[in-house]
Amino acid sequence: MGVDTFPIRGIDHIRHYVNNARQSSFFYRETMGFNVVGYRGLETGSQDQVDYVLEQEDVRLVFSAPLRPGHPMAEKIAYHGDFVQDIAFEVDDVDLAYKLATERGAKGWQEPHTLEDDHGKIRIASICTYGDTVHSLINRDNYKGTFMPEFREHFEQGVGIGIKGVDHAVGNVELGKMNVWVKWYEDILGFTNMLTFDDKDISTEYTALMSKVMSSGNGRVKFPINEPAAGLKKSQIDEYLEFFGGAGVQHVALITDDIIHTVTELQKRGVPFLTVPMTYYEELPGRVGEIDEDIEVLSKLGILVDRDDEGYLLQIFTKPITDRPTLFYEIINRKGAKSFGKGNFKALFESIEREQAIRGTL
Ligand code: FE2
Repeated sequence: MGVDTFPIRGIDHIRHYVNNARQSSFFYRETMGFNVVGYRGLETGSQDQVDYVLEQEDVRLVFSAPLRPGHPMAEKIAYHGDFVQDIAFEVDDVDLAYKLATERGAKGWQEPHTLEDDHGKIRIASICTYGDTVHSLINRDNYKGTFMPEFREHFEQGVGIGIKGVDHAVGNVELGKMNVWVKWYEDILGFTNMLTFDDKDISTEYTALMSKVMSSGNGRVKFPINEPAAGLKKSQIDEYLEFFGGAGVQHVALITDDIIHTVTELQKRGVPFLTVPMTYYEELPGRVGEIDEDIEVLSKLGILVDRDDEGYLLQIFTKPITDRPTLFYEIINRKGAKSFGKGNFKALFESIEREQAIRGTL
């Protein structure tokens, strides 16, 4: 691994633009067990925008909604539906990071500025990436308050389900644009391409896609980027691009150390998951060998398993959690494996195609 030309400490938060932040925060608290920890809105003096901050271990989510018609955020939400607008990075030096990124060709979204209140200061800037997605660059070393100035502490307890962090976040980009964005992450943020999947790896009878996994210099942030490939029918990436209205975040993978517990809770709380046929579990022992978990339990929950040279991983995918077939979540439990479940792609895509067929979008 070469010199890290754009040091990122990690993902600070993931911001969603939504129509109704109160209801989104309620959904994420009730289903995924996030604690609501911070709030900004009319009661705190914010006249135009409301935000809820939710946390579980190392995952911080922010749900932002416009309070008035004509707000620039309202236009984006009307176009895309609820969506991930910002994957914010924590950095040592916001001004330097912004300067480096823009000098290397990134388009700025917000210039570096300071937000300040009685609890201290935050330095923040943002750059544009694919579609309407941005990466904020944040340093909160000199801030002791809740999230950011203007926010107030607002606690609603969620019943946690063992989510520990963000494993990766995946972007869907337009046909022919994957390598453009791969180069963008290489040139501007010093990421490296750690894995590549072509249409031979990821194809079923009907649909195909290509994917490259980009990793930050220190390996803490992983962003696979997908583009559609030619197939007999419309791929899930084409479906996303059509309903989303362009490139955007497709899924966020959340880490757990106990996927059986996490998925049992999510299913109890009504989160819908993709399913695979029973034959998948009949073939599983032959494919992955010895694992700690009981295959019968995994099959009841629909959890998938894959093995690579370093170990194995367990994973499962929700159905889209928005009205449009756009954003979904992955739950991943790594037991040594650093890969992304290539052995599950076929079963998964066939499952997605069954869902697409029901939606009439295959
Ligand atoms: Fe994933």
